[in-house]
Amino acid sequence: MLNSASAANKLLAYSRLNPPGLIDRAFLAYNGGRLREAAKLLTDKMLPGDGFIGLSVTGALTPAGLGKSCLIPLMKAGFVDWIVSTGANLYHDLHYGLDMKLYSGSPFLDDVALHRDGVIRIYDILFDYNVLLDTDAFVREVISGREFQRPMGTDEFHFLLGKYVCARGKKLKLKDCSVLATAYQCAIPIFTSSPGDSSLGMNVAAMALRDSKLLFDVNRDVNQSAAIVYEAKSTGHKSSVFILGGGSPKNFILQTEPQIQEIMGLQEKGHDYFLQCTDARPDTGGLSGATPAEAVSWGKVDPDTLPDCVVAYADATIALPLLTAYCLSRVKPRKLKRLYDRRPPRCVAESSPLALFENRHREQNQDQPQPGQAREPHWVAAADLNLSSRHRSPDRRRRRICRQAADACRDGPRSARRRCG
Ligand SMILES: NC(=O)c1ccc[n+]([C@@H]2O[C@H](COP(=O)([O-])OP(=O)(O)OC[C@H]3O[C@@H](n4cnc5c(N)ncnc54)[C@H](O)[C@@H]3O)[C@@H](O)[C@H]2O)c1
Repeated sequence: MLNSASAANKLLAYSRLNPPGLIDRAFLAYNGGRLREAAKLLTDKMLPGDGFIGLSVTGALTPAGLGKSCLIPLMKAGFVDWIVSTGANLYHDLHYGLDMKLYSGSPFLDDVALHRDGVIRIYDILFDYNVLLDTDAFVREVISGREFQRPMGTDEFHFLLGKYVCARGKKLKLKDCSVLATAYQCAIPIFTSSPGDSSLGMNVAAMALRDSKLLFDVNRDVNQSAAIVYEAKSTGHKSSVFILGGGSPKNFILQTEPQIQEIMGLQEKGHDYFLQCTDARPDTGGLSGATPAEAVSWGKVDPDTLPDCVVAYADATIALPLLTAYCLSRVKPRKLKRLYDRRPPRCVAESSPLALFENRHREQNQDQPQPGQAREPHWVAAADLNLSSRHRSPDRRRRRICRQAADACRDGPRSARRRCG
């Protein structure tokens, strides 16, 4: 038992549990505590110093109105610099951007009757099947235009689509109703990690059966997103990921760091801050539930800032409005970075983040064959990596650590302590 003086000394590193405000005052422990830490991480570490914030969006958030209530205010306040979203969230965002009607219903309805009556249900949200057909018709009309007749990154596709949603919104006298339109206005790049996996991709695929030349350039997306993170880090900014849900957008936003380090061979340490609101558990081995600590082992997160990272096991439809209100009430709007405006259009412009990224890669790998040269570039030749002396000795050390960890697990916790210190 500690005496009270030494106990007090041990606790000096922790803040006292009685600050003002709902989240600060009432969200004290367990996942409430994690949500408070998430709010503080946003306001105290991620937003200051003009840090770059990438947001990944999964789950049915825009159908639930969270685009209008939370994502758009965050984007307009300059609190979100780039986005990776499921296609579904962007597709359903169009209903709001085109002033279609979605209704608040119940999760306990007769789905056979709903199907018979042409009513679509997303848990407790209801809408007419014609909402889908009308949205599809809008998408097909827009993408049949000339500027869509070529391969492009998904950020470019969403930017162009956003331009048309924005124009339609003006005609309909709508204000701040669509994430896509807001991203267009604020020049916020939005990527989607699986462009074929939503009604947006389905419409693009259908048009390809006619004479559409629109194709998604996913390689460009991978490099462009990594270039944004590289620009943040090489200009002395923090790079943060704010993950809602999990899924493939979570990996896409995080893999920017291994793309820089493992694939392009550039010196980097990982994202500075990781904040996730999810229901996914870590013990299944799935990416959705993987912790920031696991991400450190991949180089996705900087080990030095790991103690600041937060996972709040909370429904994003509850967490996001709370976090949005907390940030907007405490942090002044930031100047929009307008990262999309600095995207090189077709060729690589000298000052673009992508150019910086590519040039630095060339400088640091001058002795290595470059992409397009006869020999396979070193970063895809696994055999070369294994032969390099730079990699050999750490390999031996890593194998020893893995063996020790495996032995420790087999022999139980006491042995683990003895072997691994
Ligand atoms: N009409 C369409 O275009 C359409 C509609 C729905 C889904 N889809 C596609 O289906 C796929 C699945 O989409 P998804 O985003 O629902 O993926 P998902 O259901 O796999 O969710 C991704 C992760 O987020 C977590 N999550 C989901 N909702 C959450 C919430 N409210 N709070 C906290 N965590 C939450 C999940 O547990 C999971 O770990 C996507 O690729 C999407 O594009 C398309």
